[in-house]
Amino acid sequence: MCGIVGYVGDKDAYPLLINGLKRLEYRGYDSAGVALIGSQGLRIHKCQGKVSDLEAHMRDVDRSGNVGIGHTRWATHGAPNDVNAHPHVSTSGDLALIHNGIIENYAPLKEELRSRGHTFRSETDTEVLVNLIEDIQRSEEVDLPEAVRLALENVVGAYAIAVIDRKSPGMLVAARKSSPLVIGIGEHGEHYLASDATPIVEHTKNVVYMEDGEIAIIDRTKGLKIRNVKNQEKTPFIQALEMHLETLEKGGYDHFMLKEIHEQPRSIRDSMRGRLNLAQGEVVLGGIKDYEQKFVNAKRILILGCGTSWHAGLVGEYLFEELARIPVEVEYASEFRYRNPIIHEDDIVIAISQSGETADTLAAIELAKGRGATIIGICNVVGSSIPRVTHAGSYTHAGPEIGVASTKAFTAQVTVLTLMALMVGHKKGTISGSRFHRLLNELDAIPSKVEQVLKNEAQIKYIADIYKNATNALYLGRGYTFPVALEGALKLKEISYIHAEGYPAAEMKHGPIALIDEEMPVFVIATKGASYEKVVSNIQEVKARKGKVIAIVTEGDTVVKGLADHAIAIPETPDALVPLLSVVPMQLISYHIAVMLGRNVDQPRNLAKSVTVE
Ligand code: F6R
Repeated sequence: MCGIVGYVGDKDAYPLLINGLKRLEYRGYDSAGVALIGSQGLRIHKCQGKVSDLEAHMRDVDRSGNVGIGHTRWATHGAPNDVNAHPHVSTSGDLALIHNGIIENYAPLKEELRSRGHTFRSETDTEVLVNLIEDIQRSEEVDLPEAVRLALENVVGAYAIAVIDRKSPGMLVAARKSSPLVIGIGEHGEHYLASDATPIVEHTKNVVYMEDGEIAIIDRTKGLKIRNVKNQEKTPFIQALEMHLETLEKGGYDHFMLKEIHEQPRSIRDSMRGRLNLAQGEVVLGGIKDYEQKFVNAKRILILGCGTSWHAGLVGEYLFEELARIPVEVEYASEFRYRNPIIHEDDIVIAISQSGETADTLAAIELAKGRGATIIGICNVVGSSIPRVTHAGSYTHAGPEIGVASTKAFTAQVTVLTLMALMVGHKKGTISGSRFHRLLNELDAIPSKVEQVLKNEAQIKYIADIYKNATNALYLGRGYTFPVALEGALKLKEISYIHAEGYPAAEMKHGPIALIDEEMPVFVIATKGASYEKVVSNIQEVKARKGKVIAIVTEGDTVVKGLADHAIAIPETPDALVPLLSVVPMQLISYHIAVMLGRNVDQPRNLAKSVTVE
């Protein structure tokens, strides 16, 4: 949510900033802006809209400067317009600041600053912060880094910020609390700053992930210094980035989302690599090895997440309860933290997050950690905040997910949850050896089965064309596929803006059946398995009311095929693994409907990836 970039060095800052903003645009696309310091002093350019709008606006202006900051915004305080776009400037015009996060106590600070002569042009909390820094700089007569440090002592909220000062033209000061910041260290003494490593990877592989409470002072001649809020100097911990540039490109696909859907055979395989060992007949999850016994002894598992990650958590509930016989509660992180949840010291909390930055999930983790629970992370973005606050965890290895709608992250999360549940069930003896080995073999076969599902794309596109003008849709599943129904509905609504609801198939008769008429497409996961006959009855109930049924069936099925308006076949697999296959047609249906409706698939309206505000 909001993307930040910065550059200090000898090169022209502007092209680096604008390319960096394009990489970060998934974090918000309400407005974009840059501030540059060069021989012409400090210049700010910003406008409502996308980074491409900013680029067009910049065509006729002076873009020189070796120090600069840039921002792409997801609006929180104030409408998405030119005035509220970042960077924000202090009253004197000397300081420019960009911000990702929320300053909660901005209102009283604004009043006080007003009484001290500061003026405000925007409705943002960020403009308050830049004026606070300037106020301290002047009243305390301190340099920029110290003014930033003192200002942040007065601030309540979350932030990643970068500030430049017309009077210190070779310097950039950055700070973070609960919002991510990465610094790239270039070969020739130049420095890059960004909300994540994607704008940095093409320039350098040497990065420093800033910690909460740290302030970075990047100086063109003196290099990088990091201090903490108590003003103690810290040695920057330089890490090698494991990210490849080609993973950040569309690679010939029309959209990142489509590329990411098609990457799933690979991303699922990568999430199992080195963990599922068929030859030895074992699951080894190195990242949680020291916590295996805790899992085995756990009386309860709590799974926390938001959105798609929460849906993956629901699949995890079925997996852990069935395979490891451990009671599981799956909670929306945002709800969990605002009640007074009962947390025991012997609880295992699994926090799921693609970005590893979701503010609600982070806060829920802190709450559970504070009450003594063991926190295990399942995250995709290496070096993000959540893996750094958990006790242990397993990365999903899905690779960068850039489309705002989550696809390959979901299947990678479910893969890791399946491995965890199998490992614990095997160690506990709650599944027989033969079932364990059968499931390992079946899981190993999933990537090639996903490839088979992807071959149905032409049929799925044909179905998408028929239903693209629907105004509502229902998604039904049962058991393991109920979370897939929720995920299918979420995918459709977020990228096509068609209203959709996911339900357990049996719940339909308790209300939603009233919605069914000949206009209503009903997507039903009706694969062979424990609830097959029951789902067949549910399909008949829909057909009796003239609803249109699009069923996901097991290859070779004839019964549902005979009943449904359309049947999309997926290869046979045990119930526990059906989510990994059945979600793929759901993703493709939503994708093609959204494309046919002319939606911006990778950047749907009002949304942003990496939700760093509560
Ligand atoms: C939906 C989607 C969101 C995220 C949610 C959690 O397609 O992408 O619902 O799943 O915002 O994000 P992470 O997984 O990064 O914590």
